[in-house]
Amino acid sequence: MHRTIFFIYIILFYSAAVVNAQAKDQIVISTKHISMVLTIGANNRVYQSYLGARFLNNADNLLIPESKHEAYIAGGMEDLLQPAIRLIHSDGNPSLELKYVSHAERKVDENVSETDIMLQDPKYPLRVILHYQAFNNEDVIKSWTEIKNSEKGEISLENYASSMLHFEAKDYWLTQFHGDWASEMKMQESKLTSGIKEIDSKLGTRADMYQTPVFFLALNKPADETNGELIAGTLAWTGNFQFHFEVDERNSLRVISGINPYASACKLKNDDSFVTPAFIFTYSTTGKGQASRNLHNWARNYGVLDGNKPRLTLLNNWEATHVNFDEKTLVALFDNASRLGVDLFLLDDGWFGNKYPRNNDKEGLGDWQENKLKLPGGIGYLIKQAEDKGIKFGIWLEPEMVNPKSELYEQHPDWILKLPNRDENYQRNQLVLDLTNPKVADYVYHTVVDMLTKNKGLAYIKWDCNRSMSNTWSPYLKNRQSALYVDYTLSLYKILERIRQKYPHLPIMLCSGGGGRTDYGALKYFTEFWPSDDTDPLERLYIQWGYSNFFPALTISSHVTSWGKQSIKFRTDVAMLGKLGYDIKVNNMTDEEFQFSRQAIINYKRLSNLIWFGDLYRIISPYDENRMVVMYINQSKSKAVLFNFNLDTRYKEVFNKVRLQGLDSRKLYRITETNLMPGTKSALTENEHVFSGDYLMTMGLNLTPGKLKPLNSMVIEINEEN
Ligand code: GLA
Repeated sequence: MHRTIFFIYIILFYSAAVVNAQAKDQIVISTKHISMVLTIGANNRVYQSYLGARFLNNADNLLIPESKHEAYIAGGMEDLLQPAIRLIHSDGNPSLELKYVSHAERKVDENVSETDIMLQDPKYPLRVILHYQAFNNEDVIKSWTEIKNSEKGEISLENYASSMLHFEAKDYWLTQFHGDWASEMKMQESKLTSGIKEIDSKLGTRADMYQTPVFFLALNKPADETNGELIAGTLAWTGNFQFHFEVDERNSLRVISGINPYASACKLKNDDSFVTPAFIFTYSTTGKGQASRNLHNWARNYGVLDGNKPRLTLLNNWEATHVNFDEKTLVALFDNASRLGVDLFLLDDGWFGNKYPRNNDKEGLGDWQENKLKLPGGIGYLIKQAEDKGIKFGIWLEPEMVNPKSELYEQHPDWILKLPNRDENYQRNQLVLDLTNPKVADYVYHTVVDMLTKNKGLAYIKWDCNRSMSNTWSPYLKNRQSALYVDYTLSLYKILERIRQKYPHLPIMLCSGGGGRTDYGALKYFTEFWPSDDTDPLERLYIQWGYSNFFPALTISSHVTSWGKQSIKFRTDVAMLGKLGYDIKVNNMTDEEFQFSRQAIINYKRLSNLIWFGDLYRIISPYDENRMVVMYINQSKSKAVLFNFNLDTRYKEVFNKVRLQGLDSRKLYRITETNLMPGTKSALTENEHVFSGDYLMTMGLNLTPGKLKPLNSMVIEINEEN
C-alpha cells in the first residue's frame, strides 16, 4: 500500500531522525495546552509517561517519573491484557516485540507539528511507526500507525490499533453516543468498572447506526460542560470501528482505538505496509464545552471539506413528495424555494430508472438515468428551470447500492456483495455493491462524475447509503474475504478522492439513512452530513445536542419539516442551530408561517457566520433540565446568538435565570430578541436592554418571562454596544 511514498518517507525519516534520536530519551508531543510525554526506557521500549495539561515550564517534563505503560503494546509477549497490535509472523510466530529505533519531529506548518516514532521487532524485519500530529492552536492530537512488513513471507495482522492511551485516575466516566435509525446520538454516561467495555460497529457501510465513533472519557469524576478533566476522542473511519476500554487489576485504564479487528485480519506480503486511520482527540480540564470547541476548531480548519466556507440553505422535496413527482410538480416547487429565499433546491430519491422505475424503494436503485416519464426534459432542464428562478439545483444519489430489481443487477450479478449458497439478505430491498472490485469502484466514480459532467450547473449532491452489510461476501476478493470491510472503506475513499480531484469544492451531503455515517474519515470529502431522518424538533434537539459535542454546526444539516406538532417558529429555531434547510410543503404554510419563514432565512443569513464559525457554549442541557440553551459567539466576542428552548415543561415548573458564558466581561452588550412571529413582540423583559458581559455571566437573564409555555423558543442576538 502506497509503496513509493513509503520509501521516500523512510529516507526522509531516517535523515531527520539522526539528529533527534540520540539527543533525548523523552519524546514530547505538545499543543498550546496539552502535552503527551513518551519515554524511551532502558530496555528500548517506548512508554507513555504523561498525558494531560502542558506544564508552564517545559523543563518540568524531565521530572515525570518512569511509567510502566508501554505506548503501543504488542501482543504475544509478557503483557496479559488487550494489545494495540497483534500479528502472526510469516513463520507462524504469534508474538511481537517493539523496540525504539528512532524518532523525528518536523513542523508541517506554523501550527502543526508531526512526531514519528519508528519501532522495530529485534528479531524480525517488521516495523511499526507511530505518528502523532499536534495541532497547536486547536489543542488537538491526531495519531495513527503504520505497519510495514519486510519479512519474506506474508504476515497476518490480527489487531492494528490507531492509538493506545493510558490513564491513571480514581474513576473513569465514559460518555458514549448510541441509537438506531431515527434515534441517533443518545447520550449515555457510565462509570467504567474493572474489565472491558467496548464500543464498536460491525455494520460495514452504515457503520454508525447503533454506535457513533466518538466518546468523552472523564477522569476521577463525571465532567459537565464547564468542569472536569476529560478527553474527547473520535476515529476518522467510515467503517467498522472499535473503542476498547480496559480497567486493569491496578485500576489503570488503557484505551485502544481503531478499526474493528472483527473478521478483518489484514494480510501483508513482503514490502507491504498498512496505514491505520487516525484517532483524533483533545483534552480539557474545564469540561466538555472546551473539548467540543477544540474539536470544532480543528474540524473547520482540518477535518471537514471547506470547513471555513459558507454553506447553502436549501429546500429538499423528500418529506413533501417522497418519490411521487414529475417535472411540473418539481418546477412548481422551485418557485416555492425561490419565494422562500433559499439558495438551492435538492431533488431527492425517485428521479431515476426506466425499465424499473423508482416509484418505490423496491426497484431501480443502480440505474442512474432520468426516468423518462417523470422527467422528460432530464436533469439539464431542471437545472435550467431552477436557475431561471434564481436558485441552484442539487440531486440525491445512492451510488454504492443496488435493488435486485434493476438493470444493473441483471447486467452485473457478480458486482454485488452476497454470500454463495445463502439467500440474499435485504435491507430496504437493496444490496451493497462490491466496491473492493476496481471495476465496480470505477462504475461508482463514473456514476457521479458523468452526471456532473453531463449536467453542468449541478450544484449539490446528497450521497446516501441506506443499508449496512450483512450476509457479506465479495465475489472479487475470493479467498481473501478478511480484507472486505477494510478494503470497502478504502475503496470508497479512493472514489471520493478521485471525485474531489475533479470537483474539489462541490457541496456534498453525507447521508446514510439519517446519521449512519458521521465521522471525520468521510467528512474530509463532504461539506455536511444528515444527522437523522427524525426531524421532530423535540427529538431533534437531543440529536443535535449529541452531535454538537464532536461536530461543528455548519456540518449538521437541520431541516424544517412537518414532523412534530410544534409551531413553525419552534421548528425553525431548532433547525437554525445547525445548517438550515427546509423539507416541507411550502404551499401548505399559512401566510403568517410563510412570512415568518422568509424572514427567518434572512435572519439566518445574518447570523450564520456566528453559527457556522463561532464558538459554541452549551449552557443548559436538555438531559439536565426541561429546556435547552446554547450560544454561539464570534472570536472577538462582539456578537453572539443565543437559542433558548422550553421543552416538555410542567405546569408551574420553575426555571432559574441563565448565566451566559464566553462573553467579554468588560464589554457592553445589547440584548435583542429576533425570529419573532409576524406582528408579535418580545416577551423578554430585558429586550433591547444593555448589560455588561460581567452582569450577563454573573447574574444572567430570565429566559422564561411571563407564563411558562412548553415547546416555546427564543432566539436572542447579543451585540456589543459601543
Ligand atoms: C434516506 C435519507 C432520506 C431520504 C431517503 C430517500 O432515508 O435519510 O433523507 O433521502 O433515504 O430514499
